[in-house]
Amino acid sequence: MKTFDVINPATSAVLDRAPDQSVAEAKAALEKSVAAFGMWKAKTPFERSAVLRKWYELIVKDEDTLAKMMTGEMGKPITESRGEVKYAAAFVEWYAEEAKRAYGEIIPTHANNKRMFATRQPVGPVYAVTPWNFPAAMVTRKVAPALAAGCTVVLKPAEQSPLTAIRLVELWVNAGGPPDVFQVITTMDPAAVSAVFFDDARVRKLTFTGSTEVGIKLYQLAAKTMKRVSLELGGHAPFIVCEDADIPAAVQQVMLSKFRNAGQTCVCANRIYVHEKIQSPFAEAMADSVKKLRVGDPMSDQTQVGPLVDQQGLDKVASHVDDALGKGATAMVGGRKKEGLFFEPTLLTGVSAGMRILEEETFGPVAPIVGFTDEAAIIRAANNTPYGLAAYVWTRDLGRAFRIAEQLEYGIVGVNDGTPAVPHAPFGGVKFSGIGREGGPWGMEEYLDVRYISVGLP
Ligand code: SIN
Repeated sequence: MKTFDVINPATSAVLDRAPDQSVAEAKAALEKSVAAFGMWKAKTPFERSAVLRKWYELIVKDEDTLAKMMTGEMGKPITESRGEVKYAAAFVEWYAEEAKRAYGEIIPTHANNKRMFATRQPVGPVYAVTPWNFPAAMVTRKVAPALAAGCTVVLKPAEQSPLTAIRLVELWVNAGGPPDVFQVITTMDPAAVSAVFFDDARVRKLTFTGSTEVGIKLYQLAAKTMKRVSLELGGHAPFIVCEDADIPAAVQQVMLSKFRNAGQTCVCANRIYVHEKIQSPFAEAMADSVKKLRVGDPMSDQTQVGPLVDQQGLDKVASHVDDALGKGATAMVGGRKKEGLFFEPTLLTGVSAGMRILEEETFGPVAPIVGFTDEAAIIRAANNTPYGLAAYVWTRDLGRAFRIAEQLEYGIVGVNDGTPAVPHAPFGGVKFSGIGREGGPWGMEEYLDVRYISVGLP
């Protein structure tokens, strides 16, 4: 069997090897997925729910193994990996319950001799492509609603994090899940393997989390066979701290939002706009917190910030910081590469328009602070981006909270909340941040087609 190396970003050493599957293997997986669809969709929602429930229980029991695997393959601090296993399992638990609630509607009739219904049916076999930054939760966030709806899934995880995905499929099978209903394909040739699924009209749905650049390409490829799509793409989250904000609470939450996963989430605060009246105390308090962050071996319970996932990620972070410093910003804390793939947790002040960090997603442990005075101007600045995934606003004034939240062109707005994502709420963006929603009932709708039945009465 051909394999490829899985690299531990904390040490740059080979951690393990994963199967490097071929186009022929992708074709075989597709055929199995298509063949299994009829059987899986014919199961009652209660039967599907029972398997999902068992899968949830096995994931919870496997927390230690999954967490170590994740930390090993992508460098997330182990305490965060344990949290991610719980987060990932919670999607499965929620959709095990939701499987039983794919209700239809009775449509009021316009004619006494007709009765009309809208029912839900699974879209069909699904191709799912997941990223490395949440190797477990991004899998279950897609796969659990798809399986609950009655779809079959072939999953292609990112090349950096195949091990967690393989383990999740093993647990599915251990839970009594039919192997052909949920399969994983790992490969170093994603374009050729993915083409198998894009070119086949029997695959009815693409679900993807990753960069906007790749998302646009996949959207075009999916159009050839008119697949339904869910795309969860890049973000550039503004974090607006108004003059009346609770500064300690805002600092505590911006730290969570910015430095979780070493800044490698799509919803991380990327631009921190602070009202000039409170900019100094806010920046001082944040600098104190950034200095205290413990950077190091992600397998240690003490570590809060691990390495970047790879050299490309590290280079991008360094280039954003160099660009900002070169154009007049100041590093209040950090600002430099450390050994290997580590970067110092960094706080930049004096950041202004025209710097790359205010325009592009950094995906790293760097927080730029920008001062503001005018509410209308800061809303315009926050919206002045192609992205529209998550935004945050901090204020104690309820009127201002609603005024700003309602004008932000984003799919998710956290008001005095730096971590709004949960399995039962809608997650997704507008503009170039994507199409569709994951989580809650919205996440399952993505895998269901509406079927209208009109019954003529004798
Ligand atoms: C993401 O970065 O795409 C996911 C973040 C989350 O679910 O909190």
